[in-house]
Amino acid sequence: MSIKVFVPRDSAALAAGADEVAAAIVSGARKRGVDVELVRNGSRGLFWLEPMVEVATAAGRIAYGPVEAGDVDALFDASFHSGGAHALKLGLTDDIPYLHKQERLTFARMGVTDPLSLADYEAHEGYAGLRRALAMPATEVVQQVLDSGLRGRGGAAFPAGIKWKTVAALQAPQKYVVCNADEGDSGTYSDRMTMEGDPFMLIEGMTIAGVASGATEGYIYIRSEYPHAVATMTQAIAAAEAAGFLGGDILGSGKSFRLHVRKAAGSYVCGEETAMLESLEGKRGIVRAKPPIPAIKGLFGKPTVINNVITFASVPVILAKGPGFYQHYGVGRSRGTLPIQLAGNIKYGGLVEKAFGVTLRELMYDYGGGSASGRPIKAVQVGGPLGAYVPESQWDIPLDYEAYAAVGAVVGHGGIVVHDDTADMARLARYAMEFCAIESCGKCTPCRIGSTRGVEVIDKITADQNRPQQVKLLRDLCDTMVNGSLCAMGNMTPYPVLSALNHYPQDFGIITPDRKAA
Ligand SMILES: Cc1cc2nc3c(=O)[nH]c(=O)nc-3n(C[C@H](O)[C@H](O)[C@H](O)COP(=O)(O)O)c2cc1C
Ligand code: SF4
Repeated sequence: MSIKVFVPRDSAALAAGADEVAAAIVSGARKRGVDVELVRNGSRGLFWLEPMVEVATAAGRIAYGPVEAGDVDALFDASFHSGGAHALKLGLTDDIPYLHKQERLTFARMGVTDPLSLADYEAHEGYAGLRRALAMPATEVVQQVLDSGLRGRGGAAFPAGIKWKTVAALQAPQKYVVCNADEGDSGTYSDRMTMEGDPFMLIEGMTIAGVASGATEGYIYIRSEYPHAVATMTQAIAAAEAAGFLGGDILGSGKSFRLHVRKAAGSYVCGEETAMLESLEGKRGIVRAKPPIPAIKGLFGKPTVINNVITFASVPVILAKGPGFYQHYGVGRSRGTLPIQLAGNIKYGGLVEKAFGVTLRELMYDYGGGSASGRPIKAVQVGGPLGAYVPESQWDIPLDYEAYAAVGAVVGHGGIVVHDDTADMARLARYAMEFCAIESCGKCTPCRIGSTRGVEVIDKITADQNRPQQVKLLRDLCDTMVNGSLCAMGNMTPYPVLSALNHYPQDFGIITPDRKAA
């Protein structure tokens, strides 16, 4: 009987040598006459353990990691293929505390299945959601998404069901579903993991969106820096189409939905939904003025559902298990779970899916193990490059869109970038303005000009040139950017800048009354 050995094919594992490990396992097995069936799974998201190799045993899957190609001979000597003891043995995968404590709804199959095996996908509850969706009226599908409380995971947290309902209500000869897989936020990778590790889940979610809204064509806009995601999605779409899950007559329902992959051109602002539409239409990625909103006039001027990868990927479980199941997780108006991405100066970086309500302190210490440098953590940027720096006094606030907004922070796409006490917050504030200046699409003045002036003003503050006046000027400038910019690029760049200034004034050379007294 052959032994199933799993070696991830996710980019993070490949970067750590997973292909070499897989090749060493195949040749080691051949040499020893061991019958191994190698499965290239997705990553479990415990990046410090990659490549994490797993072996299927009667007791469950047993993990070893991080494995290097040079470890493989010794692993065979230790009979790892039957769960033998070795220094790299981590025990039963499901019992690893980092995984065990999570609430994986969207990422339930991640690392468990072979990403390109439809049979494996279906054996693990895949396509149960679409089958249920096809058996009910489209209006009921939309209602279930509304009832689940699912909000967009790309950043703006807009209720997904309201967008779907808007598109469904319109009569049009053609409607579209577009998936935003540009994933430009610093420290984020949940979209990439989904596309590389469980691509049928995204296909299923988008197909359900098509069935619910009456759209028959869909596009996945994937950043070009994700070649493995592009390749995996392309293969998965072909497999789904060949098996009747996509195409002119989905599962004999008479409903039609086709999917296409498009590579993004490599610009942060192309993740903004209207700039993305311009880019998809073959034009320069410049933000469109709203209204009209894309749900009414989107791709090629037609009604379009636009959602993030994780938003679509959350839909199959909602349809499969019912909106009440999903809605049961979370706090306040933030329902369900969020795949949170721990990055930056953190000991155990990786993917942690938890219900809303978890705190930053739990994430950074109970999961992340503190900073990688071993130094005290000073600041955490949550929600990408336009997110605020969250100081320690706010680390116990539950992760919840409204609770974060109340302190001037954002949850965004769930990226968490940790900085230790050596971070210079004035330099990070300057970087935020510089990033905006580089990435601005240039359409509106507060962002195009304001970001460049912002860099100059921060330079003057740190060089102590009329510091009090320049601080006032920076606040005025941020006010103009927040209130006068056309899109969130200019609206939100002040978040990291002002949070750095307000919570870490000493890094800007500002002596607060407390410090003066001290
Ligand atoms: C500058 C900028 C960049 C953005 N980048 C992304 C991105 O990479 N991925 C994404 O899903 N949303 C991004 N967004 C948010 C999108 O405009 C949009 O709100 C989102 O794709 C809608 O999907 P959702 O409702 O499922 O979140 C960005 C917004 C701005 C202003
Ligand atoms: S805020 Fe910046 S990115 Fe957005 S439209 Fe204005 S110039 Fe373009």
